[in-house]
Amino acid sequence: MNVLVIGGGGREHALAWKLRQSPRVNQVFIAPGNAGTALEGRNVEIKVSELNQLLNFAQQESVDLTVVGPDDVLAAGIVDLFENAGLRIFGPCKEAARLESSKSFAKRFMIRHGIPTARFGEYESSRAAKDALHDFGFPLAVKADGLALGKGVVIAQDRREAEAAVDDMIERRRFGDAGRKIIIEEFLSGVECSVHALVNSRSYLVFPTAQDHKQLCDGNRGPNTGGMGTFSPSRQIDAGLLQEIRDKILDPFMQGIRQDNLLFRGLLFPGLMLTKDGPRVLEFNCRFGDPETQVLMPRLETDLLDLLEASITDQLDAISTEWDNRSAVCVVMASGGYPGDYETGKAIAGLENVSEMEDVKVFHAGTRRRGDQILTSGGRVLGITAVGNTLSVASKRAYEAVDQIEFDGRYFRRDIGSV
Ligand code: AMP
Ligand code: GLY
Repeated sequence: MNVLVIGGGGREHALAWKLRQSPRVNQVFIAPGNAGTALEGRNVEIKVSELNQLLNFAQQESVDLTVVGPDDVLAAGIVDLFENAGLRIFGPCKEAARLESSKSFAKRFMIRHGIPTARFGEYESSRAAKDALHDFGFPLAVKADGLALGKGVVIAQDRREAEAAVDDMIERRRFGDAGRKIIIEEFLSGVECSVHALVNSRSYLVFPTAQDHKQLCDGNRGPNTGGMGTFSPSRQIDAGLLQEIRDKILDPFMQGIRQDNLLFRGLLFPGLMLTKDGPRVLEFNCRFGDPETQVLMPRLETDLLDLLEASITDQLDAISTEWDNRSAVCVVMASGGYPGDYETGKAIAGLENVSEMEDVKVFHAGTRRRGDQILTSGGRVLGITAVGNTLSVASKRAYEAVDQIEFDGRYFRRDIGSV
């Protein structure tokens, strides 16, 4: 069978790597991919925004299953496009993907279906938003309604910061149309975590836990990024809490998509805050996490193709999954300056030193090949993943590999998996 993975980050590299291991897969195509995915299959030079070209390619190459990585491609309606053309594709339809691409849509869904979340209001005028601030107290969260590369949330400590965030989003359109509408939310304190669940219209299957480190600097300090590393399992979620998450969040979610007639055959990855009153949903992601996928795939022993097919054919209740019960750690190596401005085109040295290391896998993100060299081409460059009997063994192994890899300005955290 031929499989097409859409996207070009570390998440897509991990998915392509895992799919390639399936005895039923002949060819993995990755559009547009990166220098790492080229080692797992064939990269295709089509941008993720070129939906019709992706469809033409899938038809020409007899692609049997397409797997979508990024949220904006789902929000653009790729699943509807492929399904209307009779092609099999993994992911929620455009309307269901609004659970991630519109925060107000997600909040209304949660309220309608009794899913615990922060109190909120939605506003299209900066005047109305500013008038409402006192209803929430400080700190509070100001969020752009639409997709903003994970940067559209400001935690404002006081009125001045909140008003600046409102003006930035609504008046100055800092996030373009994503900030045409904003939501304001009460601040929730607690510990953050997330779960991954494979969903179809009848049932869901929860993956082992994984946790990311969003902040740039050691000790979980500094600005938020797309994710500087991950580890699995998470220390926050035990069996009792997982049951509570099923009862209060995942079960009502399933009832909600059924009642609202939302076609969701894909991956649900809610971001949660564990408050003293129980878990609250901060956001719904409707896709695999990046870099969570880079620690989940090395632990997955079941054929990923079987899992994805079970989701799109509504057979999840009939499938059992096997996971490696060891731990995994992924350390992201980034370009100096990320998440702000950074340079690209730096030669990466030392990849060959780690390619034979046991229980280590390097997932590429922002990389490209030029001749014999592999160059940096993005903010997050590599995700160095290792498995081991404990988190600390996995972490030590991952850092042994990280230390072998050099590029000008490389930056990474030293404490992934240990805080
Ligand atoms: P979101 O994209 O909505 O998950 O928000 C991004 C980050 O902002 C989250 O991972 C939290 O760290 C923080 N955040 C969002 N909403 C809240 C809230 N209501 N209270 C506290 N922190 C929040
Ligand atoms: N690691 C967080 C995300 O994928 O949204």
